[in-house]
Amino acid sequence: MGRKTYEDHSSEFPGRCNIVITRQESYPLAAGVHRAVSLQSALGLARETHAQVFVIGGAGCLRDALSMADTVYETVVHADILGDTFVDAFDFEGWRTLKLVDHPKDEAHIYGFSIYKYQRSM
Ligand SMILES: NC(=O)c1ccc[n+]([C@@H]2O[C@H](COP(=O)([O-])OP(=O)(O)OC[C@H]3O[C@@H](n4cnc5c(N)ncnc54)[C@H](OP(=O)(O)O)[C@@H]3O)[C@@H](O)[C@H]2O)c1
Repeated sequence: MGRKTYEDHSSEFPGRCNIVITRQESYPLAAGVHRAVSLQSALGLARETHAQVFVIGGAGCLRDALSMADTVYETVVHADILGDTFVDAFDFEGWRTLKLVDHPKDEAHIYGFSIYKYQRSM
């Protein structure tokens, strides 16, 4: 994840190896969280110990990772929200598309959402 995404969550994601991309050499990270200076070096570090690697944002990381990704998970939240960070719509033409979840709003979710899985055709 990019450094701003890490800051937004203010802690690591539990149960996973967390790698934060930042050019700042002495950026303070929680114990056990790794630092990488680029997406490429983060991917290299992750692949040393993990077969499956997720790039979770922000915008630049997602843009750069797409050309290398074999699978993309997209959650579409059924809400109109004024955002401050944007990613161009991806073109999944030729990818296999699966709708995994179609969840209405309920007591636990103030918005409905749909989750899609896109797999690159080999
Ligand atoms: N809806 C979602 O699924 C989702 C997912 C992720 C994030 N977000 C949101 O998106 C916002 C943050 O996104 P963002 O795009 O503004 O920031 P970001 O990618 O999270 O962080 C940007 C910072 O990460 C480092 N960085 C990113 N790419 C790099 C690269 N290729 N090489 C070296 N360093 C790199 C730099 O840190 P330094 O300046 O420290 O060098 C850069 O300033 C937050 O609001 C977050 O909550 C949403």
